[in-house]
Amino acid sequence: MSTLLFFTIQLLLYLITCSNCLEFDHPCRPPHHNSYPFCNTSLPIKTRAQTLISLLTVDEKIQQLSNNASAVSRLGIPPYEWWSESLHGIATNGPGISFSGAVKSATSFPQVILTAAAFNRSLWKAIASAVAVEAMAMYNVGQSGLTFWAPNINVFRDPRWGRGQETPGEDPMVVSAYGVEYVRGFQGRGRKGVSRKRVLRDDDDGDELMLSACCKHFTAYDLEKWGQFTRYNFNAVVTDQDMADTYEPPFRSCIEQGNASCLMCSYNSVNGIPACANRDLLQKARTDWNFRGYITSDCDAVATIYEDQKYTNSQEDAVAAALKAGTDINCGTYMLRHMKSAFEKGKVLEEDIDRALCNLFSIQLRLGLFDGKTRRNQFGELGPQDVCTSEHRKLALEAAKQGIVLLKNEHKFLPLNKHDVSSLAIIGPLANSTDLGGGYTGVSCNPTSIIEGVKEYVNNIYHAAGCQDIPCNSSNHFAEAISIAKQAEYVIIVAGLDLSQETEDHDRYSLLLPGYQTSLVKAVAEVSKKPVILVLTGGGPLDVSFAVGDQSIGSILWIGYPGETGGRALSEIIFGHYNPGGKLPMTWYPESFTNVPMTDMNMRADPSRNYPGRTYRFYIGDRIFGFGHGLSYTSFTYKLLSAPKKLTLLEAINARRQRNMLHNRSNGLDYIYVDEFQYCSSLRFNVQISVTNDGEIDGSEVVLLFSRTSKKIEGSPEKQLIGFKRVEILSYESVETSFVVDPCEHFSFADEHGSRILPIGDHIIMSEDIEHIVSIEM
Ligand SMILES: *[C@@H]1O[C@H](CO)[C@@H](O)[C@H](O)[C@H]1NC(C)=O
Ligand SMILES: *[C@@H]1O[C@H](CO)[C@@H](O)[C@H](O)[C@H]1NC(C)=O
Ligand SMILES: *[C@@H]1O[C@H](CO)[C@@H](O)[C@H](O)[C@H]1NC(C)=O
Ligand SMILES: *[C@@H]1O[C@H](CO)[C@@H](O)[C@H](O)[C@H]1NC(C)=O
Ligand SMILES: *[C@@H]1O[C@H](CO)[C@@H](O)[C@H](O)[C@H]1NC(C)=O
Ligand SMILES: *[C@@H]1O[C@H](CO)[C@@H](O)[C@H](O)[C@H]1NC(C)=O
Ligand SMILES: *[C@@H]1O[C@H](CO)[C@@H](O)[C@H](O)[C@H]1NC(C)=O
Repeated sequence: MSTLLFFTIQLLLYLITCSNCLEFDHPCRPPHHNSYPFCNTSLPIKTRAQTLISLLTVDEKIQQLSNNASAVSRLGIPPYEWWSESLHGIATNGPGISFSGAVKSATSFPQVILTAAAFNRSLWKAIASAVAVEAMAMYNVGQSGLTFWAPNINVFRDPRWGRGQETPGEDPMVVSAYGVEYVRGFQGRGRKGVSRKRVLRDDDDGDELMLSACCKHFTAYDLEKWGQFTRYNFNAVVTDQDMADTYEPPFRSCIEQGNASCLMCSYNSVNGIPACANRDLLQKARTDWNFRGYITSDCDAVATIYEDQKYTNSQEDAVAAALKAGTDINCGTYMLRHMKSAFEKGKVLEEDIDRALCNLFSIQLRLGLFDGKTRRNQFGELGPQDVCTSEHRKLALEAAKQGIVLLKNEHKFLPLNKHDVSSLAIIGPLANSTDLGGGYTGVSCNPTSIIEGVKEYVNNIYHAAGCQDIPCNSSNHFAEAISIAKQAEYVIIVAGLDLSQETEDHDRYSLLLPGYQTSLVKAVAEVSKKPVILVLTGGGPLDVSFAVGDQSIGSILWIGYPGETGGRALSEIIFGHYNPGGKLPMTWYPESFTNVPMTDMNMRADPSRNYPGRTYRFYIGDRIFGFGHGLSYTSFTYKLLSAPKKLTLLEAINARRQRNMLHNRSNGLDYIYVDEFQYCSSLRFNVQISVTNDGEIDGSEVVLLFSRTSKKIEGSPEKQLIGFKRVEILSYESVETSFVVDPCEHFSFADEHGSRILPIGDHIIMSEDIEHIVSIEM
């Protein structure tokens, strides 16, 4: 091909894929309107944003208040689609993403709940960075925006929640850690090879952003549909206490430590006020946590203020309430449609709109949208060749392997030696499915089924679905499954959930396996020659108590939604190429838990009204599997190497005449308010633990360190996580690991007013069978 022909074709392709680009592409680059002050990169971002706003008419301003923001052609401002999704890979849920173009697919990492089960911060960050590379590559060829609405950091409060799968589980500390790693990895901080070239002045309040991540959904959102309640009309009644030590911490750290540039307010009301109209809530993020990004509503969550929550008397009042509370942009068209008349009726002022626009344009400027930034730095090189790379697929495989949880392994039934497996029956409606990504999945690069994964190890495979689909409404298809189970040497049954049971807008009513699935598992296990391997899919906990004690079920593995390499990951574990080390990031409750109203937001148990509490921190009932449960093919022993026995407050307090910081409860218990106590750092200490691998197989162990007060105090958690570390330990070797414990943070909890208190007295630190008392004395 001649060079001229090549360039002609390139130009034609460019014009076809990018019909608006010549007109709008980067107003601040020649030959466009680069004389406007908003293009002057020597000015602070805020000034640039404000000068741009000053050039706009009210109508032009209002056209910006939607995810589909209009162009301002006379200034060369391009249209912009704010809504792209990237929960566990580039997803199709937002209109900002298109898979018709040079990029046809993107890496589908496991659904978040499984990746969370790996309890590995560097894995979490590596995934976020990989997704960011694919996002940038897609942006560069016009198939994606630069603003993404992930991660989902609502705590997985109720096991029935259809979107629990999207979250990192039920513990606020784990959820916080995940959120921080995700945002840092995604927005471009700390990535290897990324030079942090500051194009802004030091006094500037905005940092250059590669991409924007969004902490969602703010807050107390974790109900889709229950009885007559929907996420659109639900009012979450949350105590100050639970707000302070459960619902709020993930959002606070996402902003304070992750430096997230976006917050999304949720559909539900919080204590009577719709989240997107909840000024106290939204302003707290800006004033107390120094949030400097934009706030988007969940999609149509401004409309719901009036239509579903009936919080206002008119549509204009709804858009006014949202805007004045601090919602900058409305996903949907409600503000586009009603802001003008709200303005004309004096319900909003132009300065209210300007404030929102300042937040929005600041993000666009920080992203370099108007400057053509990506064309000039190394991200501009990213393209289709950087999507679905073998490196990314390997990382997806790694995540699935690290996350998969071995729940039961009677008499070390697993791993199987492939040479012993002359034939294998794989039963279940999802066994041959290549759709194992869970909610917010895009188009996977090369999805594989469980059967394909197992075929790498065993030639002689029989398959029967057993159930027609996951709802499994009949036993009509059992016969074939039972027949192959009788013939095969080994049997794997894949049961559990898919999106027909749990997803956005759809919660479960039962924790049992759907339909006839339990009967199928029992029928197959009964006739098989050897105990069977039960593989469970899905993000929500399952009551599989029938299987836990059943001798004919040798092993149980939970694979969540393992993504496009899940079949391979599962097979590597079953055949002993990888030793499982994942642990459950959420409690598995018994079916009786469904008696608890889903609408009850209280975390703390209340025996007086038969309320068992929620999550391992407060739940006092029976469980099928606890938070942190997960087995290995080897065994580990723990030894405490060092930790103090006593911490003395008086020295710190006396020295600074801070005696009045001690507070007495009616029952004589002394405690201090953490926020008033300035000497927390002087109480910090190290806990050193040695973990030994006592078996012949190398393995990874997730070390979880908890604390609890020795005497139960009203409102105190049953136990709470201090920290977690995943460590690799070779056969018969030991690894030492240490945790920094900050009593003000790790031994404290919120009182009824939402203030964190640190009880004086004995605190117990716990890890596996280690229990050690640390006494905090006067
Ligand atoms: C850009 O802003 C700086 C700082 O205010 C100013 O000195 C400079 O003249 C401006 N550049 C242009 C091209 O207006
Ligand atoms: C986005 O807005 C423009 C007008 O600015 C409109 O022409 C277009 O249809 C909208 N796109 C969608 C998907 O709503
Ligand atoms: C987060 O923002 C703060 C304040 O602007 C800044 O000092 C800090 O370096 C940022 N952290 C990261 C990880 O970018
Ligand atoms: C799995 O599904 C594929 C495609 O739908 C089909 O070709 C294949 O025969 C199935 N495999 C088994 C073992 O049923
Ligand atoms: C299965 O049964 C449920 C409940 O009876 C029903 O809602 C659903 O439509 C049925 N599904 C199929 C595929 O028959
Ligand atoms: C708290 O109560 C105990 C016993 O009732 C008393 O000895 C102690 O002085 C009190 N502490 C403060 C700070 O009031
Ligand atoms: C944590 O994840 C990273 C990235 O995949 C991996 O290199 C490391 O080995 C993992 N750590 C453990 C202990 O498994």
